[in-house]
Amino acid sequence: MYQKRPGIFMADWSDADGRRHRKQFSTAAEARKHEHRESALAHAERAGQELKLANSQRAGGRTMSLQESNNVTMNPAKGKLGVMIPGMGAVATTFVAGVEAIRKGLAKPIGSLTQMGTVRLGKRTDGRSPKIKEFVPLAGLDDLVFTGWDIFEDNMYEAASNAGVLEQRQLDQLKQFLSSITPQAAVFDHKYVKKIDGPNVKRGKTKMDLAEQVRDDIRKFKKSSGASRLITMWCGSTETYISAGEAHQSVKSFEKALRANDETIAPSMIYAYASLMEGVPFANGAPNLTVDLPVMLELSRKKEAPICGKDFKTGQTLMKTILAPGFKARMLGLNGWFSTNILGNRDGEVLDDPGSFKTKEESKLSVLEHILQPELYPELYGKMCHKVRINYYPPRGDNKEGWDNIDIFGWLGYPMQIKVDFLCRDSILAAPIVLDLVLLMDLAQRCSGLRGLGIQEWLSFYFKSPMTVPGLYPEHDLFIQLMKLKNTLRHLKGEELITHLGLEYYD
Ligand SMILES: NC(=O)c1ccc[n+]([C@@H]2O[C@H](COP(=O)([O-])OP(=O)(O)OC[C@H]3O[C@@H](n4cnc5c(N)ncnc54)[C@H](O)[C@@H]3O)[C@@H](O)[C@H]2O)c1
Repeated sequence: MYQKRPGIFMADWSDADGRRHRKQFSTAAEARKHEHRESALAHAERAGQELKLANSQRAGGRTMSLQESNNVTMNPAKGKLGVMIPGMGAVATTFVAGVEAIRKGLAKPIGSLTQMGTVRLGKRTDGRSPKIKEFVPLAGLDDLVFTGWDIFEDNMYEAASNAGVLEQRQLDQLKQFLSSITPQAAVFDHKYVKKIDGPNVKRGKTKMDLAEQVRDDIRKFKKSSGASRLITMWCGSTETYISAGEAHQSVKSFEKALRANDETIAPSMIYAYASLMEGVPFANGAPNLTVDLPVMLELSRKKEAPICGKDFKTGQTLMKTILAPGFKARMLGLNGWFSTNILGNRDGEVLDDPGSFKTKEESKLSVLEHILQPELYPELYGKMCHKVRINYYPPRGDNKEGWDNIDIFGWLGYPMQIKVDFLCRDSILAAPIVLDLVLLMDLAQRCSGLRGLGIQEWLSFYFKSPMTVPGLYPEHDLFIQLMKLKNTLRHLKGEELITHLGLEYYD
């Protein structure tokens, strides 16, 4: 769904054969509802077609793997992997400092699925559960090299010290390495992030000039670092709310708009365009649209540079996507979910601006509706009231506190309440997500079955507002997302998918 003009909302979906459709509505709610209904129908039809295809591909009672059926190749992770980060703030520095601490044997990669997770293969009785990093060819931590862009001139050691996430004592052990990473001048315009401004900014007559400068930065970094492959990981501030419009519909219209300095092109989109033009995958950790646009999907497919986003799933939304599937599984009703947060880092300050908050709010609100499916369960979730508040409260720094009041009801409609008080550390939860995304996006680009798809929906596990092809509703349930991720890995390696049917154990 996108807003064409004030008061005109376009439902936008693809039918089962991939044909694109649009229909005009006067409210966002009507457009969204229509889009969901048509998408669900198309999805069901497509699932039926896929099942038929899978059955026709069965060989000797065993489903053919993608490798066998599509000749998928997975190139090895040879050479260095260059990680380029627009936005060298709390998340980015916690990630880079963490990787270096782990490389030096000073800490463990807690929270990272690629480093600590396993994947079960075959039957429960087979006893085959290799580590994910041993099952698929991922880049090693020693092969990662870093660069970034920021509007402030602080190097990574100074930026990490200012962010106040990691203890100074720990940062001092990594000082030499972190000080060597200095930010390149950013593409930035105060209009899109109202609460901050800084001196380290590129100048150019048009937005196309700025994109050319970023492309030049990318080429230079590849040469100077000796990296054989690159990834761009947006860890920049949340930009003001922008809905997709005419400029974002195709590469042609986007390039025209870049030359015309179109207001609907935000800085993050310029980094995304530059990266994809250079054939570099782009992952988006913030809720801005950035790569969630038809132009970027077109470019991503053309250049075989995968994209994914949006908005790292940490903190309160992580809890929501753990708890809500549980309520639905037990058919418990929900009258309301009130979430409030206090946080005091720069992210909190940026979100104090109504424009940036609206971007975040959109991303946080859609989660419950998609998990609970009120259209399928009107008696349980039809009247749910969902509110999200974020309060900027400097004394807390990065150590956010998120409160949830959840009003549920059970047998015969009797009400109950659940209170969650999560004293979390935002960037500590986000850093392992960044690591996994970097490694898995690199894998996606080395894998012929994935790189041409554009959006990497199997990485929804990491996002609050997962991207999907137009018309397909996103899967928010953390456990379905994890199954999707692991099944994708099994599929790529020609292992049987795990359905958890399990009847064979009782034969
Ligand atoms: N920490 C989490 O748990 C979490 C969860 C979900 C999403 N996010 C998102 O991740 C992003 C980073 O979070 P953070 O806590 O590190 O914020 P932060 O404010 O510490 O860092 C953001 C950095 O981006 C820089 N920046 C802003 N616009 C830029 C531009 N156009 N080019 C280059 N640099 C730019 C800022 O100067 C700042 O240093 C935010 O958008 C946040 O909403 C964070």
